[in-house]
Amino acid sequence: MGDRKVIVFDTTLRDGEQTPGVNFDKDSKYRIAKQLVSLGVDVIEAGFPAASNGNFEAVKHIAENIDDVVVAGLSRCVKSDIDKTYEALKNAKKSRIHLFIATSDIHLKYKLKISRDEALKMAVDSVKYASGKFDEIQFSAEDASRTDWDFLVKIFNEVVDAGAKIINIPDTVGYAVPKEFEKLVEYVKKHIHDKDNVTISVHCHNDLGMAVVNSLSALENGADQVEVTVCGIGERAGNASLEEVIMAINTRKDYFNLLHSINTREIFSTCKLVSELSGIDLQPNKAIVGSNAFRHTAGIHQHGVINNKATYEIMRPEDIGITTDHISMGKLSGRNAFELKLKNMGYELSRDEMNLAFKKFKDVADNKKIVNDNEIKAIVDDVISNSKS
Ligand code: KIV
Ligand code: ZN
Repeated sequence: MGDRKVIVFDTTLRDGEQTPGVNFDKDSKYRIAKQLVSLGVDVIEAGFPAASNGNFEAVKHIAENIDDVVVAGLSRCVKSDIDKTYEALKNAKKSRIHLFIATSDIHLKYKLKISRDEALKMAVDSVKYASGKFDEIQFSAEDASRTDWDFLVKIFNEVVDAGAKIINIPDTVGYAVPKEFEKLVEYVKKHIHDKDNVTISVHCHNDLGMAVVNSLSALENGADQVEVTVCGIGERAGNASLEEVIMAINTRKDYFNLLHSINTREIFSTCKLVSELSGIDLQPNKAIVGSNAFRHTAGIHQHGVINNKATYEIMRPEDIGITTDHISMGKLSGRNAFELKLKNMGYELSRDEMNLAFKKFKDVADNKKIVNDNEIKAIVDDVISNSKS
């Protein structure tokens, strides 16, 4: 398919904020938005202006102070939401309203209590009402993956005819599986009017742990935009994680052939900031940015990476902005790793001192999960002072 550029739409500040227990204040949202600009995202969904005064003020502040990206605001298909979103975004350098309405029968019947025709009318009327007020109009069919495909294409075509330029296919409840989702994207792409001028977007949730793989399948099959959050935070089990999607594209560029504008060296600091401000710790085995992601514990693995990192590392930690020492010292660590660790800590030991230090380290390690740098220092300092006395 050639080197297509993926548009990265970050919704950490909107869907990410829907994580249970997370509430970003205006200052936190602004700090994250600035960091997202350094990271290189194309679109920042700053919030849902009609949802609360705090949300409105935070979106307005970002729209007025952040220049280098498109700033988006979420809006239901009702005039009062569109007016609020307009007030929040009117001073943005480039604004996008993100209109959404549920389209699956289960949502229409039990949540909105309206018919398909009524939903269609609300969507089209809203796009028409928003036209001219924003630089771009994006329309999302909520619960698209559980929507009748013909109805989905019908509503997409009518909103495109009314002026929407970006259509989003959300897997709202994380129900899709990769093959099926890629077929849905292909189907929409095949049947959409004005396909050369319409951006197709996907937005995947992680209820079955498939948000990233579904997003990648969609990109592989013609989606132009991917909606993600930093560290995958979001409603319930979260959204597709930005860092996982991007590093999969980079690490397997031989397979995906996709371009993007993310500066991967900013990934780690962005994840740290979002973790700090959301209060959600990064799980140690989190792909890409967890504290174990580049740690090697087994002696055989440590030996391998000391000789050549590519034996057990498919990415370079420095490409993600991670600079710390990743040798995790424990009872499975071998002599090579121990020697490298001491070298990194600035020690130069004689052969006898090294033999003794390694033996003492192994004795300590036998009863612990990890021997940290302070404990190694105590062992080595003890060996050095005894050998001098
Ligand atoms: O998950 C979802 O359907 C959403 C929409 C508002 C895009 O977050
Ligand atoms: Zn969502």
